[in-house]
Amino acid sequence: MNGPAPGFVPTMGALHEGHISLLRLAGNRRTIASIFVNPTQFNNPEDLANYPRTEAEDIIMLEQAGCDAVFIPDALAMYPEGESAAAVDYGILTRGMEAAFRPGHFDGVVAIVRKLFNLVEPAEAYFGEKDFQQLAVVRELARREFPNLRIMGGAIVRENSGLAMSSRNRRLSNAGKARALELYHSLCFLRDNWLDSDPGQLLNAVRYDLSLSPEIKLEYLETVNESTFLPSADKKDRIRALIAAWVEGVRLIDNMAMPTE
Ligand code: PAJ
Repeated sequence: MNGPAPGFVPTMGALHEGHISLLRLAGNRRTIASIFVNPTQFNNPEDLANYPRTEAEDIIMLEQAGCDAVFIPDALAMYPEGESAAAVDYGILTRGMEAAFRPGHFDGVVAIVRKLFNLVEPAEAYFGEKDFQQLAVVRELARREFPNLRIMGGAIVRENSGLAMSSRNRRLSNAGKARALELYHSLCFLRDNWLDSDPGQLLNAVRYDLSLSPEIKLEYLETVNESTFLPSADKKDRIRALIAAWVEGVRLIDNMAMPTE
């Protein structure tokens, strides 16, 4: 694109209001979105094969939202040598939670986001807090390699029920969606009791409650300091609770800010 550098929203398609909300962060700036289901960030081949693809609808949604251009490369264009992603070590950011449960995931995210930034050359790029750890990893990538690029985070967009919007929700039955809401309710319960409880006991109580639902397979429920990403339950710190769990064979993540004292 000619003209001033655009604002950029990278996605893997199967778009919903969460993706569209990121376009709005661009204000009057021209926007470009990308749709690419990036194979190197899927540690699970089944997850890649089942990832929803709704390109025709996606393009209509982007057009209606006023997006100026969309980039939809094929896998060969992005990985001409069929190369795998190099290992990324950003310390704690690439060790715990998503990194621990999805080995190689952030290697793939960093590989593709770096390629996209180099191709699109945006002035700003927008990422959702839905993927809170990814947002931190991308900020670190930009800090190290794209010092002139501004990374902006967008708040999590939820269904009326509270369920965090996700492309993967399309794979849930109505009963599965109701189950998935327990993730959100767990985070709300943590938030609402955070200041009046012993955080360790509170976390364990919520983990225990979730373990009683046979349809929910919890991977982690952690609280970390938002700026250091170190595990923390200090009520004076800005703390984020993050959760990952499987429902009906679909891996879901969500997170919420805890109140501070
Ligand atoms: P994808 O899951 O398609 O998400 C694209 C962007 O939309 C991410 O920044 C994500 O955090 C944001 N997003 C998703 N659901 C959201 C919600 N409910 N509210 C707010 N934002 C939401 O994340 C990826 O793709 C990929 O890892 C990618 C960065 C494109 C690299 O392949």
